[in-house]
Amino acid sequence: MADTYILGIESSCDETAAAVVCSGEKIASNVVFSQIASHQPYGGVVPELASREHLRAIVPVVRKALTDAGRTYNSIDALAVTQGPGLAGALLVGISYAKALAFALGKPLIAVNHLEGHIHAVLLEERQNGNYQVNFPILALVVSGGHTHLYRTESRGNSWSYENIGQTRDDAAGEAFDKVAKLLGLGYPGGPIIDRLSSHGNPSTVKFTPSQIKHQDRRSRSSEQGVPRFDFSYSGIKTAVLRYVETHDLQASIAARQRSLAAIAKPRLEDYLNHCDQQTLDLIASFQHAMVADLVGRTLAAARAYDAATLFVTGGVAANNELRQSFERDAGREGVAVYFPSRPLSTDNAAMIAAAAYPKFLAKEFAAMDFSAEAGLALSQR
Ligand code: KG4
Ligand code: ZN
Repeated sequence: MADTYILGIESSCDETAAAVVCSGEKIASNVVFSQIASHQPYGGVVPELASREHLRAIVPVVRKALTDAGRTYNSIDALAVTQGPGLAGALLVGISYAKALAFALGKPLIAVNHLEGHIHAVLLEERQNGNYQVNFPILALVVSGGHTHLYRTESRGNSWSYENIGQTRDDAAGEAFDKVAKLLGLGYPGGPIIDRLSSHGNPSTVKFTPSQIKHQDRRSRSSEQGVPRFDFSYSGIKTAVLRYVETHDLQASIAARQRSLAAIAKPRLEDYLNHCDQQTLDLIASFQHAMVADLVGRTLAAARAYDAATLFVTGGVAANNELRQSFERDAGREGVAVYFPSRPLSTDNAAMIAAAAYPKFLAKEFAAMDFSAEAGLALSQR
């Protein structure tokens, strides 16, 4: 079959991204413009600001993706864009631009679910590395700033199906990393810095009790196969960190750290270490350790219940070193193959959107020009 070049566009949160992927398996270009610097002073993503920044970045980012790939607007075969979930205003920028471009070029447009993109990032990574043999059923953990979702994933030809068998009841795992980092005066986004600082602390200093999912919600009924759901909950651990801070009188040192780090344009690891005492480093390491143990434990329990042959771990938090090591060690012990995307493909990017669009292109699943952004778009009904 002839090579198919798809231009992917992603603007669901705080990254403006465009990429060209050949036949769902080879990245020709992958451009990500991060807005982190604009949102950092506010300690989180400001939706209004995100939309404005996407507007500013979208044209140059798409142009660079084409140039890097050595393609012209006319030499791509189709466009793909994230429809949701995400921030409505941010999504609309990518969608409006993709629609206009597709219309002007007379090329088909494919609407992609952001979560499906994260799952296909793993397949893209494997195919790039020459691995086309992934065993089903696949259990995919999408773990990011907005999601902690488990999907049982199947494919029949070009048709992919996803059954949601668990998700967070409250905060997403990445959100917990971000909130705890903010609480400790470490700035935004929290995941990468907690990841780097954790190896400098003792993870068994503070004991966090694993979250209890007591109440069944309406999604908690057993699946068709009679297998239970595997939900997560991460707001409790954030409150436990807050309680530790209060009972150990850490507020003054946190405020001092926040001021000192805010005065440094681009703090390096040494700067963070210079402003964290051992007690704080131990707290950070213990928090990360508890998060990782919970994510890995629940996902492997689900893998056993669903008899999964393969685990995909994807989304921003999949970049975490301890999470990767724990999954590799524990899944290996149980004989389940585990795959992650490379770190640049773990966090938001458009290559994953172009890759997820390829089977839809083959199935001629094109979007009508009147489709719109869906902030709460689900990947499967349950
Ligand atoms: O997938 P992503 O780029 O955007 C969303 O779709 O949410 O994920 C961003 C999230 C943030 O919460 C960030 O703190 C977290 O991923 N993250 C990490 C790491 N790198 C990014 N969390 C833990 N360890 C990391 N190394
Ligand atoms: Zn994402």
